[in-house]
Amino acid sequence: MVDVPLLEGLRVLRPEEHAADPGHTSHISSMTRTLRRHTQSMPLDHYRETNRAHWDSRTPIHYGSDEYGVSRFISDLQHLSGVVTYDKVKLGDVIGKTLLHLQCHIGTDTISWARLGATVTGTDLSEKSIEAATRLSEDCGTPARFIVSELYDTPAVVGEKFDIVYTGVGAICWIPDIQGWAEVVSSFLEPGGTFYMREGHPMMWALDWLDNDELRVKFAYFETKEPEAEEEHETYAGVGVVESPLNYGWNHGIGETLDALIRAGLRIDRVEEYDECEWQGLPMMIQEEDGLWRLPEGRERLPLMWSVLATKV
Ligand SMILES: C[S@@+](CC[C@H](N)C(=O)[O-])C[C@H]1O[C@@H](n2cnc3c(N)ncnc32)[C@H](O)[C@@H]1O
Repeated sequence: MVDVPLLEGLRVLRPEEHAADPGHTSHISSMTRTLRRHTQSMPLDHYRETNRAHWDSRTPIHYGSDEYGVSRFISDLQHLSGVVTYDKVKLGDVIGKTLLHLQCHIGTDTISWARLGATVTGTDLSEKSIEAATRLSEDCGTPARFIVSELYDTPAVVGEKFDIVYTGVGAICWIPDIQGWAEVVSSFLEPGGTFYMREGHPMMWALDWLDNDELRVKFAYFETKEPEAEEEHETYAGVGVVESPLNYGWNHGIGETLDALIRAGLRIDRVEEYDECEWQGLPMMIQEEDGLWRLPEGRERLPLMWSVLATKV
């Protein structure tokens, strides 16, 4: 792992109240039973604070990882993240448009959209992630604005409208209330504005992903009030010990998420489900020549990712 000194001086905003009704759902975990007792009666602020510490501690590992490829962003000014390379076909032309990236993490996807011609703003709960994203933008010379903000606080922190709101790939599983999330998305768009998201499929999140080579439903598919708790001492990109391993996640069904967007004033233009995944979401998946992971057989059994394109009405 590359030791990355991060920028100082940014402040995490911690409003007293959550803008949306707290609590709800499930998510991936093999340690749920032992950790569930921690989740029974704690307020959401505990969940957010725990997740913030968790993502702060993942950040330096990710920043130095091959998977996030920070050095490639600096050495090759045309380089795009794999995520945006996949999504640019789905979202379409972003030249000259303003784009808000919710839960931007270390900014590799945000900067990729900027390289495709958008004027970008990235927001994230994790101060360390925003420090890293800001540093990457400076070091690679691609202009981007990054702001520390918890998801539900973002409308109050970023008082602007955008042409495009973008999020995805491991984002909404950290968000408790999908209706409140959809209201946040909608608040940033004028009528005619675009929302695009690609995510891990909630049916995949509902499966036992560590213990079993069979497809076995173990976790909730629908949003639940209490989160799943998990301890992850290693992370999906890079090598290093995650110093704050405890984290909380929630699942959200496809119908719940689409309905939340519709209720928040968006028209659904396109929904896709994919039999491929950008990461090894289940132990039996195999990585193919294009770098994507798929089930070795019977691919028609299970969607692994999904995406939605929508327009503010
Ligand atoms: C897996 S990253 C997703 C971003 C992008 N797909 C990537 O891989 O770089 C998840 C991000 O969500 C952020 N996050 C988690 N909970 C959040 C919350 N309540 N509000 C804002 N950001 C949050 C984390 O800090 C983390 O940077």
